[in-house]
Amino acid sequence: MNRNILILKGSPREKGNSAILADRAADGARQAGANVESVYLHGLDIRPCDACDLCAGGVCVIEDDMLPLYPKLAAADAILLASPVYWFTYSAQLKLCIDRWYGFQGNRWREVSGKEFGVILTYGDTDLYTSGAINAIHTFETMCRFLKSEIAGIVHGSLGDAGDAEKHPELLQQAFDLGKRLAAGK
Ligand SMILES: Cc1cc2nc3c(=O)[nH]c(=O)nc-3n(C[C@H](O)[C@H](O)[C@H](O)COP(=O)(O)O)c2cc1C
Repeated sequence: MNRNILILKGSPREKGNSAILADRAADGARQAGANVESVYLHGLDIRPCDACDLCAGGVCVIEDDMLPLYPKLAAADAILLASPVYWFTYSAQLKLCIDRWYGFQGNRWREVSGKEFGVILTYGDTDLYTSGAINAIHTFETMCRFLKSEIAGIVHGSLGDAGDAEKHPELLQQAFDLGKRLAAGK
């Protein structure tokens, strides 16, 4: 059975650097035989978790664009997060979506556990520390540990203008290879 890969794109720039790398990962995953779906989060109405905790007894009750995303998250064998670094961590678009995974608590987060995860991070500053990308990576690693999930790979790079990722064949290759690993599974 072909594996399902879900890609969550966290940049408002639809053709920005993290999106270019995410698309390259999708190419790698498709070439390896996976079904891939990419979601451009900035185009969705995703409201913040309001901590009502009604999901403890079932599902999230906020009626917005997360509702169709929950079954996609649950059905995915692997999930790839792709985000620019904004203020030293994930973009708000991606963080809003991840916060809402709290809605899976009714079933002890089983629907988002035991998968393979990857992350792609792009930033304007020179390295992992000055950019703050290290904070997003720490969050990512902690999340994967909590969700008892494997880390398939972390791709990151210092990139400025939208489209700069096209000038970095090594990053494009890393993203492609990450897609292939997500498609292959453990
Ligand atoms: C609101 C905002 C906040 C940003 N914060 C950071 C930051 O904290 N660290 C950093 O290195 N770059 C920061 N940047 C630069 C972006 O991370 C960088 O341009 C990245 O390559 C954009 O990726 P994208 O093309 O996928 O949107 C910021 C850019 C914006 C617009």
